[in-house]
Amino acid sequence: MRNIVIIGGSKGIGSAILLQQLETNRVYNISRSVPKLTHPNLTHFSLDVLKDELPDIAEVDTLIYCPGSITLKPISNLSVDNFRNDFEINVVGAVKSIQKYLPVLKRGYESSIVLFSTVAVKLGMPFHASIATAKAGVEGLTKSLGAELATVVRVNAIAPTITETSLSASILRNDRMKENMVERHPMKNYLKPDEVANMVDFLISEKANSISGQIFEMDYGLVNFKI
Ligand SMILES: NC(=O)c1ccc[n+]([C@@H]2O[C@H](COP(=O)([O-])OP(=O)(O)OC[C@H]3O[C@@H](n4cnc5c(N)ncnc54)[C@H](OP(=O)(O)O)[C@@H]3O)[C@@H](O)[C@H]2O)c1
Repeated sequence: MRNIVIIGGSKGIGSAILLQQLETNRVYNISRSVPKLTHPNLTHFSLDVLKDELPDIAEVDTLIYCPGSITLKPISNLSVDNFRNDFEINVVGAVKSIQKYLPVLKRGYESSIVLFSTVAVKLGMPFHASIATAKAGVEGLTKSLGAELATVVRVNAIAPTITETSLSASILRNDRMKENMVERHPMKNYLKPDEVANMVDFLISEKANSISGQIFEMDYGLVNFKI
């Protein structure tokens, strides 16, 4: 049984990860709202990762940082504060969480960290300047820490394409938008949270013991194929 800390397990991808991991692991969830379920293996802390002090947890084997943002605007409409806010929630929150739990992670069992980027780092897309900049920071953090912690903690990131969660609700708000999104992807689909949770399940397991400092595109062909 691993001790898994999920920052942001109340909704979206984090919630799918939490559901998958609960039966066989001890899960500590940190988010502002409470997850929809209770379970003997689940401990929840209601707090804001940017504003509040993170709780002490005696044993941590895995840290998964899910909070993120989708701020899509032309550069002329993006304020400097938009860039700052995206950097805060995507990068600074992750750094704060890693610094808090690294001492216990270093003593953990097959320890690893999973962070979240986006396909918009590799694929230039209009209106993504702020989020792509912040997530490029997440990718740099992944590679740098992967090297720094090479013998003790594995560090990887997943770069998903659009995934059906509360974060993307405005982009997938009706059937026509969903059909357009399917058409945009060479493999004619977009992501559901469970598919991303499956990748996390692999990356935190012993099956991925040889893998660190890597960014995994889950893109239904969006970045990698031109058909
Ligand atoms: N969905 C997509 O299309 C998509 C695409 C590419 C990349 N991503 C990335 O994938 C990751 C997960 O996305 P998602 O769609 O699952 O997001 P989501 O539905 O917005 O869920 C984010 C989770 O983080 C928590 N959270 C947010 N801000 C927080 C804060 N200040 N303090 C504590 N907890 C906080 C939220 O809980 P509370 O609100 O209860 O605090 C929630 O549990 C993000 O990094 C996102 O950038 C998503």
